[in-house]
Amino acid sequence: MPHRSPLHVGMRRVFSKVLLAGLLAIQQIDARDLKSRKVTTRLRARDDAAFDWYKLDASEDITWTPCGSGQQCARVLLPLDYSREADSPKATIALQMQPAAGNATYKGAVLVNPGGPGGSGTQMVAEIGTNLTELVGAGYDVIGFDPRGTGATLPLAQCFETESELQTFAQRTPVLVNASDDSIPYSKAQNDAVAQLCQRKLGGNGSEDANGTVEEWGGGRFMDTASVATDMLRIIEKLGQDKLHYFGVSYGTILGQYFASLYPDKVGRFVIDAVCDAEYYPWNSALVETEGVIDGLYSYCHLAGPAKCPLYESSIAKIKARVWNIMKTKTPLAVPFAAQGPAVVTEALLQQQILNAVYFPISEWPEFANILVAVETNNQSVLAASDFVAAAAPACNSTNEPAPWLRTNSAEYAIACSDYPLADDPAAFDAYLREMTRESPIAAPGWVGSYLACMKWKIEAKKRFAGPFAGNTSSPIFVLSNVLDPVCPFAHARRVHARFPGSGLLVQNATGHVATLTPSACTVAAVQAYFANGTLPAAGAVCQPNVLPFVGAVGGD
Ligand SMILES: *[C@@H]1O[C@H](CO)[C@@H](O)[C@H](O)[C@H]1NC(C)=O
Ligand SMILES: *[C@@H]1O[C@H](CO)[C@@H](O)[C@H](O)[C@H]1NC(C)=O
Ligand SMILES: *[C@@H]1O[C@H](CO)[C@@H](O)[C@H](O)[C@H]1NC(C)=O
Ligand SMILES: *[C@@H]1O[C@H](CO)[C@@H](O)[C@H](O)[C@H]1NC(C)=O
Ligand SMILES: *[C@@H]1O[C@H](CO)[C@@H](O)[C@H](O)[C@H]1NC(C)=O
Ligand SMILES: *[C@@H]1O[C@H](CO)[C@@H](O)[C@H](O)[C@H]1NC(C)=O
Ligand SMILES: *[C@@H]1O[C@H](CO)[C@@H](O)[C@H](O)[C@H]1NC(C)=O
Ligand SMILES: *[C@@H]1O[C@H](CO)[C@@H](O)[C@H](O)[C@H]1NC(C)=O
Ligand SMILES: *[C@@H]1O[C@H](CO)[C@@H](O)[C@H](O)[C@H]1NC(C)=O
Ligand SMILES: *[C@@H]1O[C@H](CO)[C@@H](O)[C@H](O)[C@H]1NC(C)=O
Repeated sequence: MPHRSPLHVGMRRVFSKVLLAGLLAIQQIDARDLKSRKVTTRLRARDDAAFDWYKLDASEDITWTPCGSGQQCARVLLPLDYSREADSPKATIALQMQPAAGNATYKGAVLVNPGGPGGSGTQMVAEIGTNLTELVGAGYDVIGFDPRGTGATLPLAQCFETESELQTFAQRTPVLVNASDDSIPYSKAQNDAVAQLCQRKLGGNGSEDANGTVEEWGGGRFMDTASVATDMLRIIEKLGQDKLHYFGVSYGTILGQYFASLYPDKVGRFVIDAVCDAEYYPWNSALVETEGVIDGLYSYCHLAGPAKCPLYESSIAKIKARVWNIMKTKTPLAVPFAAQGPAVVTEALLQQQILNAVYFPISEWPEFANILVAVETNNQSVLAASDFVAAAAPACNSTNEPAPWLRTNSAEYAIACSDYPLADDPAAFDAYLREMTRESPIAAPGWVGSYLACMKWKIEAKKRFAGPFAGNTSSPIFVLSNVLDPVCPFAHARRVHARFPGSGLLVQNATGHVATLTPSACTVAAVQAYFANGTLPAAGAVCQPNVLPFVGAVGGD
């Protein structure tokens, strides 16, 4: 899809790095080690070549088949349209499970969601299933599922004919959407094109005949988050489980709020981490803490000192001035011999990179600092080898078409724009751009494209749930947040905590997106205790991190 959405950028990395938490805290890994752990975005290359999701039988019951690395996969048929179950065509939902350890007391299944919207739960489990088991406890099965529109689930929100067609189109996407140039009208037209492709593929043909096909009914009309919440209920029912145990991050916290509001008496052990308030979905008031997180780039660099931060200067203000001087005066810079072909590093690209890096300060900032210094000194060997520069020159390989479930898709908008349709109103967009720019001048131009996409989206969900997002849940929810989160602010977590009576709130004194991605023995112990015993954090509880950006390991444990 043309726009790198805010939550989606996060999600992509989240499922490759989630659960650094427990393990990193335990192993005392510092920031430099994290860098070397970079995981490729094309994950599952190993198993996927061999494993064909579409050859896996789909059935009304959940029937597990081994799919590598001790994991189990299944495809389950559920009604596409929950308002007409009797004669609706079926959605085919892909599931992937990291089974509970045989010798532990069995406690049920925990469903997980990696964010997005558009993130693949099966990929999340494929990549970090064992790490999730460590977080929730060996007595639980951990099950990732691909929400409607995503991954190996059908219908899939795929609007382009091929991946290379999509990548070629996406290359012309403005990096930043900024009122001072022509990127806004261009971006609107580009999103209009995508919206029309998607309408043709996913919008249906206007009939809902009994025994008709998903294509006729229009798969894209049934990708709203409430339908996904109902899918989760049906999945646990099919597993013979009364309550939903759940771990969701980022957009996964929104899915969690939908579920807990629609089915409050079905809530079991339920952790939401990096909470975006569903009342403000999609993407409103999301950037109120972003600048605070970005300020940490300068302050943690200063705290770490010259040996650990290559941008170090004698004061925080001087570090900040150096960063912006590099961005503004050393670009555009040619990188002729980059790994994936010649590239140009622009100020806009670096600004976008700040927004990407701000999600995960511990793992991303050291790399970002290295790139800035390389730009400052025109260090071509560093730039040519950098993933970041490679991403600026994306490769389109039309003879290397990925399997459908690994292709880029438009699920993010199929889901978000269904949940929250936006009128195609230029004045409303201007107001949104102004508000986001007030919240974070640095992040807003890389953020607001998602809003344009929903303004242009043409498929209307048949039904949607618009709140209220609140409930007296059968079992208390565990709300977890960093003290400063760049896209799902702590302020949102506090509001959600207040609307779910009895819920617990744990604050981690760290910056970045998703608390469990920052190593903290305290946070991991709190989550483990909750899944083990239902123990909630005490009122006002704060956990300290065991790693700080640039600084590395801190604290005794
Ligand atoms: C996840 O767990 C595996 C083995 O259980 C371990 O090798 C790996 O380092 C862990 N991943 C992370 C990101 O800590
Ligand atoms: C279960 O078995 C695993 C692997 O054999 C072992 O590491 C673990 O300690 C055992 N757990 C319990 C609770 O016995
Ligand atoms: C928008 O672009 C102009 C230059 O084209 C730049 O001066 C300005 O700072 C940009 N605004 C934002 C919010 O990035
Ligand atoms: C939709 O497609 C089906 C199957 O091709 C066809 O029978 C039906 O008449 C179409 N409905 C409309 C409204 O075009
Ligand atoms: C739908 O399919 C079922 C089972 O194949 C069949 O019994 C039923 O008559 C069909 N209904 C219509 C309206 O075609
Ligand atoms: C480029 O950076 C690398 C890594 O920091 C360093 O070893 C090398 O000397 C630098 N090259 C130049 C020309 O500055
Ligand atoms: C494109 O993909 C094919 C098949 O995987 C591979 O053989 C070829 O080298 C790739 N071409 C480029 C330019 O990467
Ligand atoms: C939760 O229960 C309280 C006390 O019975 C009630 O006042 C409140 O309206 C309930 N909230 C929701 C969302 O149902
Ligand atoms: C958070 O950590 C900072 C140091 O990084 C410390 O100064 C501050 O007191 C801590 N706040 C809380 C509430 O623990
Ligand atoms: C769970 O509760 C039991 C009994 O109260 C206790 O021994 C155990 O340490 C608790 N486990 C965790 C992880 O808190």
